[in-house]
Amino acid sequence: MKVVIVGAGIAGLSIGWRLRQAGVDVTVLERAQAGQGATWASAGMIAATAEHQHAQSPEGELAYRARAMWPDFAREIEDSSGMKIGYAESGSLMVAMTEDETARYVARTADDPELEVLSASDARAMEPMLSDSVAGALWASKEAHVDNRALGQALVRAFVGAGGVLTVNEAVVSFEIRDGRAVAARGALGLHEADAFILAAGAWSGLIDGLPPDALPPVKPIKGEMLAFEPPKGVALPTHVVWGNEVYLVPRGDRLLVGATLEDAGFDTGVTAAAEDWLSCRAISVMPSLRQWRVADHWAGLRPGSPDGLPLLGPSVVSGLFIASGQYRNGILFAPVVAEILSGLVLGRPIGFASFDPRRFARARGRTGPNA
Ligand code: GLY
Repeated sequence: MKVVIVGAGIAGLSIGWRLRQAGVDVTVLERAQAGQGATWASAGMIAATAEHQHAQSPEGELAYRARAMWPDFAREIEDSSGMKIGYAESGSLMVAMTEDETARYVARTADDPELEVLSASDARAMEPMLSDSVAGALWASKEAHVDNRALGQALVRAFVGAGGVLTVNEAVVSFEIRDGRAVAARGALGLHEADAFILAAGAWSGLIDGLPPDALPPVKPIKGEMLAFEPPKGVALPTHVVWGNEVYLVPRGDRLLVGATLEDAGFDTGVTAAAEDWLSCRAISVMPSLRQWRVADHWAGLRPGSPDGLPLLGPSVVSGLFIASGQYRNGILFAPVVAEILSGLVLGRPIGFASFDPRRFARARGRTGPNA
């Protein structure tokens, strides 16, 4: 069996690697360079609790399942690639700046025994840089983060090392459909025929020609700008991921990453002084001594957002074409479960998660295809 995957971000590479491990002949086509899109731009957070208010929702279940898979996933990537990817189960401290916020955190502990509410002084004992105006915090000990940039390169090595073919600088412009079935992907380098195709091109997933409109994933880019702060000489970084006042702070190497804005700005990845100001002010409100730190880097990435905010994981309305997109803020977190779901579908071993069926948008319009 031959599978072509469009997109060499964390999703495409993870799915390709799993399929290759199962003996499938896999080619990944990448419009630019592998792991250099949202995978590169993110903060590498594995944040099921922080990103999902309701653990019992379908997306919460997906998030918690993915997080539970991460320790083994990270170990396997490191073993297969021979590279370190900096997976760290640091825990997350979600700080409350008001008593109302603290009360909302207390309510969350009712259905999640992992979570613990901390007083302001206990939170400051864990992270001494926290502001005196912090009112309390929610401690989620199982949250983690990974060096997303190393991860992208390690996945390339794991995939290629397992015998997968990666073709970079090959933008797929269209799919060829014959008798209602996807039979080839066309790029500048030629026609790539396969038995099955997986569209995992992140924010670019909706740009491909040749498909009926209902088969195209209705995803659009949601821009996120990020900063990296460098400490003054001799000053230590926080040791946990910290969330507060609408930003997150992630220790990565000798820098503290601060993210992220949310903006519907098309495919623009330019950085702005307004975003730098917004991120800096919020980070400083959580940790005032950051005022003395230097902003060493500033970049932007594009998340794949979907109309209902849920990912699209599964078959399209065209036979032989599967979608793995719309991960929005959770591309790194979801990767192991996305690889499990998509490789399972292609191998004829579906594992459920019907809420994320990409055909739901066509169904809502009263139209379905041969796969429905
Ligand atoms: N996962 C964090 C973000 O997308 O900003």
